[in-house]
Amino acid sequence: METIKNELSDGLQGKRALVTGGTQGIGQAAVERLTDAGVAVITTARNGEEGSRFVRADIATADGVAKVAQATLAALGGVDIIVHVVGGSTAPAGGFAALDDNEWQRALDVNLLSAVRLDRLLLPTMLAQGFGVIVHVTSIQSRLPLPDATLAYAAAKAALANYSKGLSKEVAPKGIRVVRVSPGWVETEAAVGLVNKLASDAGTDYEGARESLMKSLGGIPIGRPAKPIEVADLIRFLVSERAGSITGTEYIIDGGTVPTV
Ligand SMILES: NC(=O)c1ccc[n+]([C@@H]2O[C@H](COP(=O)([O-])OP(=O)(O)OC[C@H]3O[C@@H](n4cnc5c(N)ncnc54)[C@H](OP(=O)(O)O)[C@@H]3O)[C@@H](O)[C@H]2O)c1
Repeated sequence: METIKNELSDGLQGKRALVTGGTQGIGQAAVERLTDAGVAVITTARNGEEGSRFVRADIATADGVAKVAQATLAALGGVDIIVHVVGGSTAPAGGFAALDDNEWQRALDVNLLSAVRLDRLLLPTMLAQGFGVIVHVTSIQSRLPLPDATLAYAAAKAALANYSKGLSKEVAPKGIRVVRVSPGWVETEAAVGLVNKLASDAGTDYEGARESLMKSLGGIPIGRPAKPIEVADLIRFLVSERAGSITGTEYIIDGGTVPTV
């Protein structure tokens, strides 16, 4: 009976989570999925009204991360799950020459140091309770870098993946799991905006621009980008007790985009 009960429970009811970047895209879907599962969720972004479940901060800065960590512990009384979703690139196109030191630093602050700083502040609480799960959202660009505008982004995500693996080795014996979720193209609202812009620039329609974007990635074998909620479902599984023996590994969710094993 006990075995059956354990197999059916995902152990998420009543857990406490911080999801960074939870007002849009993958982060917003992750907040929804975890909330549905009975998790108390705090989220954070640069824009939005401060409230009992939302902290406004720029987590590309050390001060912003400190604010988020303090607010999370104050609001939840501890933390069991961190889903670090924030990341991205606003760098200009133009290859290596377009990326000056400021662009490189920005890519590292947003995509790597945000996670490093957040983990450093919240891991002591997890270690003290001997339990916790950390998800770092990386990107297939960490292994399939694109050269035009995202050299620094891809390199920062690769560094995040390496850091995440190393961290998992240190903390797994102490009860903390650390996993990576690595999306390919996900059709978020921001992505829809980008495709609309590409369509108007190229004088084509949404479907035409969407096809061109998929082609620029080398094609997506399933014929479409992923949906934010599909990534959120993977995250929900990985933070649940059903994934209790999974740590230090990367879960690619890209419709088959990465062409190699
Ligand atoms: N979408 C894709 O195709 C794709 C593919 C591969 C990997 N990923 C990765 O998946 C993650 C989420 O991407 P997404 O496309 O879902 O993002 P998104 O739709 O652009 O949403 C980003 C979220 O993060 C917040 N945010 C951004 N910068 C922040 C900062 N400095 N401090 C605090 N909050 C910040 C945003 O709110 P504010 O703007 O208000 O701060 C928003 O809530 C990123 O790590 C990205 O690299 C995405």
